Amino acid sequence: MSTTTDIEQSIAQLRDEINHHSYQYYVLDAPQIPDAEYDQLMRKLEALEKEAPELITADSPTQRVGAKPQAGFDEVVHAVAMLSLDNAFSDEEMRLFDKRLRERLAVDAVTYCAEPKLDGLAVSLRYEDGRLIRAATRGDGRVGEEITQNIRTISSVPLCLIGSSWPRILEVRGEVYMPRAGFEALNRRQLEKGDKPFVNPRNAAAGSLRQLDPRVTATRPLAIYCYGVGEVEGSELPPLQSEILVRLKSWGLRVSPETQQVNGIEACLDYYHQIGARRDALPYEIDGVVFKVDAIKQQQALGAVARAPRWAIAYKFPAQEAMTRVIDIDVQVGRTGALTPVARLEPVFVGGVTVTNATLHNEDEVQRKDVRSGDMVVVRRAGDVIPEVVSVVVARRPDNAQPFVMPHECPVCGSEVRRVEGEAVSRCSGGLYCPAQRKEAVKHFASRRAMDIEGLGDKLVEQLVEMGWLHSVADLYDRDALPHHKLAGLARMGDKSATNLIAAIEKSKQTTLARFLFALGIREVGEATAQALANHFGSLPAIMKADEAALLQVPDVGPVVVANLLAFFHEPHNREVIASLQRLGVHWPDVVAAVDLPQPLAGKTFVLTGTMTTMTRDEAKKKLQALGAKVTSSVSKKTSYVVVGADPGSKRDKAEKLGVTQLDETAFNQLLSELQEGD
Ligand code: IVH
Repeated sequence: MSTTTDIEQSIAQLRDEINHHSYQYYVLDAPQIPDAEYDQLMRKLEALEKEAPELITADSPTQRVGAKPQAGFDEVVHAVAMLSLDNAFSDEEMRLFDKRLRERLAVDAVTYCAEPKLDGLAVSLRYEDGRLIRAATRGDGRVGEEITQNIRTISSVPLCLIGSSWPRILEVRGEVYMPRAGFEALNRRQLEKGDKPFVNPRNAAAGSLRQLDPRVTATRPLAIYCYGVGEVEGSELPPLQSEILVRLKSWGLRVSPETQQVNGIEACLDYYHQIGARRDALPYEIDGVVFKVDAIKQQQALGAVARAPRWAIAYKFPAQEAMTRVIDIDVQVGRTGALTPVARLEPVFVGGVTVTNATLHNEDEVQRKDVRSGDMVVVRRAGDVIPEVVSVVVARRPDNAQPFVMPHECPVCGSEVRRVEGEAVSRCSGGLYCPAQRKEAVKHFASRRAMDIEGLGDKLVEQLVEMGWLHSVADLYDRDALPHHKLAGLARMGDKSATNLIAAIEKSKQTTLARFLFALGIREVGEATAQALANHFGSLPAIMKADEAALLQVPDVGPVVVANLLAFFHEPHNREVIASLQRLGVHWPDVVAAVDLPQPLAGKTFVLTGTMTTMTRDEAKKKLQALGAKVTSSVSKKTSYVVVGADPGSKRDKAEKLGVTQLDETAFNQLLSELQEGD
């Protein structure tokens, strides 16, 4: 007789505790302790088992991952065949299915158990005396492959059942799948390692389960939802499918929280459409809903045909992936000038619509997927997202398939195409000149905070560009290019509107340098940056002449903005448009450039804290910067002054500690006025 030692007891206690928390976490989705604490329990158990290796059992939570690869998978003959399901693709087919069952069962309405149909792999888990002893794939339904070592690595599969009164033999069936988030993380890792990413979560799950080395499977984010039973021996299960699922859950098996008992066909259809609307928001992929007759007695009465039961059906969502041929690869120019390679496809029905184009995102993606004109490809359209090419069916590549080359010139305007190092996007540098970008550019140019041309709305801009009357924003000011009668003849225009519009255009000629700069629509040059540039340089020629170093002197202007400015002014088309605008009368007063102003605070560093009553913190910052000061956000020994408003934060305490001079609002204003008087 063996006595229970202390260590034996501690080990047993820890295992119970860990199993309990796994259940809370994986099955009930209601963790009671933080992950770190769980990890600590595991480490404790590992340490004890190291002390007493003779006490290690196969069902210890530390023993999920086997130590060595297998030579191959053994065959498993399923005690109860793993059937497949018939499919339905429309409400009408579902109504027919329900009608057939009502007639066969001679009832008015059938109660079903509705379950989301996860897109993964069917598996069978065999528990004997509550212990997981074998796991197998579905295979052909009769014979599958033994994948126990791999299944054991899935944390949401219990190695021992919890609770009590489980049947001596319980074969559970369920779907192993990879949640979307895990799939994306896995693919990022694959790309980092230089390995091929998986095409979709289903393939990733299948590939992971078929690993001969369980240590690899253990690194894959797999999960399971259980949805039924196979062989059961030793005790009776409840009489309803929905109750069986509740029972499985109580034994520690993970069951989808979306499963629901539904009464009659209309409730089935409601369920289907409701979950369909949430499909893309679910953390895993589903490809339909499985409806099962809820009463097991009725299931038995209905029986099965060939490979599928009569008592269940899979109502599928429209397929999100389909195969078709790439006719050609075009390049589309977006409103920001981004060049997107687009596959022109032989029309294919996917995700509920006919698709003829699919995005290839960017040059790197085309290279990585190696999509060529003429290839057979898998196209995917999920929800409202733009259809994309997922992968190439290389085995079906024709001899004359053409690799893709990103053009060096914009296909719309012929301007140079540039790709910033480290960025994936190639862009047309044509800016205002490029018709593809022109509509958006003109709308922006005319908008209230830019040139403020009243009456030049979006619809009108679109008409003007489509008529071919606006080659650049300069044409707006050119009465030869755009005379009164042309404007008056446009849809929803007329004599009076045309006159008003021309007056508004005239009025906009007088503007400010900051507005004009902002109106040019240079990437990442918003209102504030335009203002900062105008203040700093004072005139447009000074800005256009400035080199990288000079531009970087402007407050809040970083390397990205500088690169955009340089690229914009480097493009001859843009310089021509600017010259035309000025020639046609657009003008502004030059301002005194900050660079030319005395900088009495040059070399001084300020920190602002608390609220001021006479100006905002941002205004204070601008004033200080105009006087040459640097404004930073944290106090250090190098800080010259801390300006303290009402309710200051910890920065004041820090200033106190470091002995940095503090200025209250009055003192600050006094300093400003003294320095400004000194101009
Ligand atoms: S029941 C006799 N329930 O769909 C019942 N299957 O097309 C057979 N599946 O091989 C399966 N979710 O891989 C059932 N809640 C669910 C399911 C489900 C996904 C998969 C399973 C099966 C296939 C049948």
